[in-house]
Amino acid sequence: MYKIIIEGNNKLSGKIRISGSKNSAVALVPAAVLCDEEVTIANVPSISDIDALDEILRFLGAKVKRKDDVMKIDSSKIKNKLIPEKISKKLRASYYFMGALLSKFKKVEMHFPGGCSIGARPINLHLKGFEALGAKVEEKDNLFIITADKLIGTKINLDFASVGATINLMLAAVKAEGTTIISNAAKEPHIVNVATFLNNMGAKISGAGTSEIKIVGVSKLHSCFHEVVPDYIETGTYMILASALGDAITIENIIPDHVESLISKLEDVGVPMEIGVDYINIKAPEKLKATNVKTQVYPGFPTDLQQPFAALLTQATGKSVINETIYENRFQNLYELNKMGATTELLTNQKAVIVGPTKLTGKTVRATDLRAGASLVIAGLIANGTTTILDADYVLRGYEGLVEKLTNVGAKIKLEKED
Ligand code: EPU
Repeated sequence: MYKIIIEGNNKLSGKIRISGSKNSAVALVPAAVLCDEEVTIANVPSISDIDALDEILRFLGAKVKRKDDVMKIDSSKIKNKLIPEKISKKLRASYYFMGALLSKFKKVEMHFPGGCSIGARPINLHLKGFEALGAKVEEKDNLFIITADKLIGTKINLDFASVGATINLMLAAVKAEGTTIISNAAKEPHIVNVATFLNNMGAKISGAGTSEIKIVGVSKLHSCFHEVVPDYIETGTYMILASALGDAITIENIIPDHVESLISKLEDVGVPMEIGVDYINIKAPEKLKATNVKTQVYPGFPTDLQQPFAALLTQATGKSVINETIYENRFQNLYELNKMGATTELLTNQKAVIVGPTKLTGKTVRATDLRAGASLVIAGLIANGTTTILDADYVLRGYEGLVEKLTNVGAKIKLEKED
């Protein structure tokens, strides 16, 4: 395990370049197995979740070439094998191999996926969707065996606009016979990015980015070049950090539309921003005002930015309330923030109050999940003294070059192996 050590409380200035989206790339890489030719994906972030997917691809027999941010994947010779649980457990996105392998081989065996421990995170909607397409799902001791004579397009209404289920069902339906309609589909930017990738390979998908996606099945997919969209959660994380400590920070290579809901919240708390076509300039204000946040599916305020935003709210004057509507257990960072001097309280599992401003002091804290880790990095940079964040591997799952990017804008931060 790694730890991050931060000497906090200094102003930051300069440019931060945003990498390709984690949650998009982790779907694009498994989607590549649908193609029997080599595909090229550019702007792939160098994060441990991608390394885990790379390991799965190689285990299945794909030829993978990686150079800088470009990944070439040739799945023409892959075998349909049970992915060892110790690899599939490393991340949530291993579940995209369910949809992709089911489509390719009409059979897949996979264990329940891993991922951050932020709630129960069932996959019932994925499985129900596979069944609607004609598959049979059996579960034995956490192992799912999904088989189909053939997959046939149908109408699927999701009870909840799940990101994972929407993508997995697009993957399963892309080569199904006939037309599939997914209604109440998720609308996140990565849904559009995955649909575009599949269309670049010859799929016929329309409506991605709206709540109704239409997929007309095709028999074959071909080679293509595709780019991962910029990461709007990484963008938002650095926007939040700049709002606390920025002495003129430019966050570049972004799509400002994707962070509309955060821009509006930062305006509420009094952060001046200059928004360009593909960049945002932020200077931290003298004073921040408290606000209320409710997480929602896209285009609402993203759950993945709720924990980083909580660190900023410890510096805002007044009482802020955070309502987490997506996950049942996404406030573990608050215990750690309180150790550093914050005044936060859990009203229920999904509702918390933060009263500020409070002075934060460097302490030894623990990252319990990816975005909790990002929250603590922001708190550590605000705090006086030294903050040590244990279990920092969580943070490395989702932020490419975090230490380098922050060092470049003047942060005193380093990564070390835990003893
Ligand atoms: N849900 C169900 N049944 C399902 C699927 C989801 O009840 O079959 C529930 C979940 O338990 C959760 C909610 O629906 O309470 C949202 O789940 P969703 O399927 O939308 O999320 P996910 O696919 O598991 C992805 C990202 C998460 C991000 C969410 C929401 C990946 C690999 N993960 O998860 O990313 O929070 O969408 O935007 O893409 C992160 O990056 O830190 C992260 C956790």
